[in-house]
Amino acid sequence: MQRLYRKRIVLGVGGGIAAYKSAELVRRLRDHGAEVRVVMTQGGREFITPLTLQALSGHPVHLDLLDPAAEAAMGHIELARWADLILVAPATADLMARLAQGVANDLLTTLVLATDAPVALAPAMNQAMWRDPATQGNAQRLLERGFRLFGPAAGSQACGDVGPGRMLEAEELAHAAADCFERALLTGRHVLITAGPTQENIDPVRYITNHSSGKMGFALAEAAAEAGARVTLVAGPVHLPTPDRVQRIDVVSARDMLAACEAAMPCDLLIAAAAVADYRPEVIAPQKLKKDPTRGDGLLLELVRNPDILATLAGRPDRPFSVGFAAETENLLDYATRKLRDKNLDLIVANDVANPSIGFNSEENAVTVIDRQQHQTRFSQASKGRIARQLVTFIADRLDQS
Ligand SMILES: Cc1cc2nc3c(=O)[nH]c(=O)nc-3n(C[C@H](O)[C@H](O)[C@H](O)COP(=O)(O)O)c2cc1C
Repeated sequence: MQRLYRKRIVLGVGGGIAAYKSAELVRRLRDHGAEVRVVMTQGGREFITPLTLQALSGHPVHLDLLDPAAEAAMGHIELARWADLILVAPATADLMARLAQGVANDLLTTLVLATDAPVALAPAMNQAMWRDPATQGNAQRLLERGFRLFGPAAGSQACGDVGPGRMLEAEELAHAAADCFERALLTGRHVLITAGPTQENIDPVRYITNHSSGKMGFALAEAAAEAGARVTLVAGPVHLPTPDRVQRIDVVSARDMLAACEAAMPCDLLIAAAAVADYRPEVIAPQKLKKDPTRGDGLLLELVRNPDILATLAGRPDRPFSVGFAAETENLLDYATRKLRDKNLDLIVANDVANPSIGFNSEENAVTVIDRQQHQTRFSQASKGRIARQLVTFIADRLDQS
């Protein structure tokens, strides 16, 4: 059930007898690849110990709203933002009543009010409590506010009654939780992305580099992670924060970048957005180069070719679906098409870095994607984040067809 892979679920455990099933639920959610943080109500703690749920979730259980130490570790707002889904199981009649009123008198109810994530409730109570018009009214109100209700099922109950009010079983709840997520485009795929410039040292204080800011590659890494991929981002020297859920490897030179990419292989998809230096000084001077009067006014630097990262990776027997970037200042589509062919790529993204409103260092971009049949698809000027999401959707579609 790939849809739960790497999803962040806050599991709220209320004070009902079905809390014992929450332990199994944590296991099931984690088996399906979800990351689980548990929040317990005061009542929940009377039915199952935080220690059990801590051991099963692999993280300390969140208990109190007004606990300075817990707030310092991961505050309630942070936890509310962290969640992709809040699942309350069991949801007691009392908890549902508080949620329906918008009460925020403990950690769980406060989180529910503070989150933008979807909230799902798994009601669990005696059949008479469930049938009571007050509970039915609360359930209706919660549905109208966009909460999802998983169950309850009907059957024999812990109290000896028979009727509706049983909490769904753990596996049923895990499936219902998965249904809250669209199937992500790159779920289960490993995506390797390069970004930024490389830096080729001349001596201990000087180097050759270029104007790449890394913004496009980082935006692609973020978009690929959002699309469910496991993302490895190999970044040259840039000052950008690492996108959420992305594994970042920092490198300096083109040769470092190739080594890091080779170590990260195999991957399903390679997006090479880095502006890699084609040449490097043949010799890196061990000491700072001094002005040398015997040489006159000039200084000749001998440069040698760097390895071609994209062609190397796209030429491997386990070659991934390979997407290159062509940053050009003239003959854009012509050069890009040649690069696609010469490097054995599946797609090339051409961008005109001579235009100051797009390309290097700017916040926006506009690109044309060319495929092996030389079909061109244009993505008109927009923020790099938006272009990245459009490109990821386009590339994922081609990857699926490959
Ligand atoms: C032994 C026992 C079992 C209970 N089981 C349930 C239950 O299954 N469902 C329910 O809605 N309330 C149940 N309750 C009542 C709740 O614990 C109580 O209403 C509490 O305030 C729930 O709030 P909380 O979910 O925020 O902890 C039970 C109480 C006791 C003493």
